[in-house]
Amino acid sequence: MTDASHDRLLIIDFGSQVTQLIARRLRELSVYCEIHPFQAVTEDFLKRFAPKAVIFSGGPASVVHADAPRPPASVFEMGVPILGICYGQQVMMDMLGGTVEGGKISGGGGTAEFGRAYVEPAGPLPLLEGWFGDGREQVWMSHGDHVSELAPGFEVFGTSPNAPYAITADTDRNFYAVQFHPEVHHTPKGPKLYENFVRLAGFTGDWTMGAYRDEAIRKIQEQVGDKKVICGLSGGVDSSVAAVLIHEAIGDQLTCVFVDHGLLRQGEADEVVSMFRDNYNIPLIHADESELFLGELEGQDDPETKRKTIGRLFIDVFQKYANQIDGAEFLAQGTLYPDVIESVSFSGGPSVTIKSHHNVGGLPEKMGLKLVEPLRELFKDEVRALGRELGLPQSFIGRHPFPGPGLAIRCPGKITRDKLDILRAADAVYIDQIRKHGLYDEIWQAFAAILPVRTVGVMGDGRTYDYACALRAVTSVDGMTADYYPFSHEFLAETATRIINEVPGINRVTYDITSKPPGTIEWE
Ligand code: XMP
Repeated sequence: MTDASHDRLLIIDFGSQVTQLIARRLRELSVYCEIHPFQAVTEDFLKRFAPKAVIFSGGPASVVHADAPRPPASVFEMGVPILGICYGQQVMMDMLGGTVEGGKISGGGGTAEFGRAYVEPAGPLPLLEGWFGDGREQVWMSHGDHVSELAPGFEVFGTSPNAPYAITADTDRNFYAVQFHPEVHHTPKGPKLYENFVRLAGFTGDWTMGAYRDEAIRKIQEQVGDKKVICGLSGGVDSSVAAVLIHEAIGDQLTCVFVDHGLLRQGEADEVVSMFRDNYNIPLIHADESELFLGELEGQDDPETKRKTIGRLFIDVFQKYANQIDGAEFLAQGTLYPDVIESVSFSGGPSVTIKSHHNVGGLPEKMGLKLVEPLRELFKDEVRALGRELGLPQSFIGRHPFPGPGLAIRCPGKITRDKLDILRAADAVYIDQIRKHGLYDEIWQAFAAILPVRTVGVMGDGRTYDYACALRAVTSVDGMTADYYPFSHEFLAETATRIINEVPGINRVTYDITSKPPGTIEWE
């Protein structure tokens, strides 16, 4: 739990797949919120957290079952506004004296409802200001059970054909309960509902990047004192923002280690080194270990072996350089909020699983280092905003993601230095084309892969026998699912011509139109 210098909203997670989206919508409103699984929210916890408002998420359970997850009853005595969503609505009604009927899924006779629905107004409510427009409003339903009798004090403010209690409220107590999911995109006016809720709760929108930056700097100074910190730089956005922030907090007590495994893109190592050394004057060890990595990768063509080899060597190399920094006690990591949210598990075992992300896997324990993770509370786009706040150039902040194993996983089959050189050149032309056509920011990730086949071609009057390359460009939100980017034929033709003319070693260009799933973004 963080300090209480800004207003805080508590989201109690009952296991919905989309709980994180609630947090996103609130952060967009400059409201600070934290997600905690229902198991962790005890009466004591509520007192310590002291939320200004509470949201109950949806979830897969059914309140008609005796062991259904519930918040502590004291949450209703705190005098703060509460919004219950889907399961959150049902648990609220059940605990406050209403009735919930089981649907098909939980063994009852009622109907379940999944998908688009339309809600009509049933009375004026401040929560719904600017919501209905001229008539009905589209919402997204996803529920098995439904409320059949409201708890005392509640009234209906919106109905849909299958959900007569779609929007309900006890306006005296500021308790609101909706059957649909305002956090998903299929509820187009969902953000307005959250905006009204936090306004009614008295939030002032004090969660700004400027405030976050000052607070984060103060916390790093408190945590680290006069000790030294090591930060592994990959050239990616997260580790770069973490490094610049920590450097602002503790200056020369920070040393960055940039492991160059020889699998970076054209000009990338120079860019990273000059940006940190020249622009920020941050002490930086440039560990050029390409001979080691490429030597060990020689002859290997199995994707998993490649990844494991790179991971193992990375840890060894990082440790070797980190050991040269006398008296370092902390390791900085660019861990983000989605990596640390405790997820709810209903299926046996320890009920709470904590996902943790180790960019330099296992190193902190191995080296006896404590962690500094100044981005733990941020989502990816907030990290970008913080980077802008810290003055990092947009060209750096807006960069497409680049995988840890680098070009190794874009070179299916055996990796050779020749193939890597060809790949770098082709990738550079491709990215240049994308930038020239103003498409870079529309695309989530784009790169070239060199294929382990050579094909026959004809250039001038001569026969060629060179490699084929594949171009990849995808749109995505989080990399979990992706679609190929619909380039125009003109763009593809111009790019293929440029690559074949400008890159010796390639005589054929293909465009990968596989989505994820069933494909993955990278080729290995
Ligand atoms: P896939 O290929 O799994 O990639 O669809 C999804 C996203 O993750 C990136 N990726 C990695 N990033 N270490 C990383 O830091 C890795 O080992 C790794 N493998 C894939 C990939 O570039 C894409 O953005």
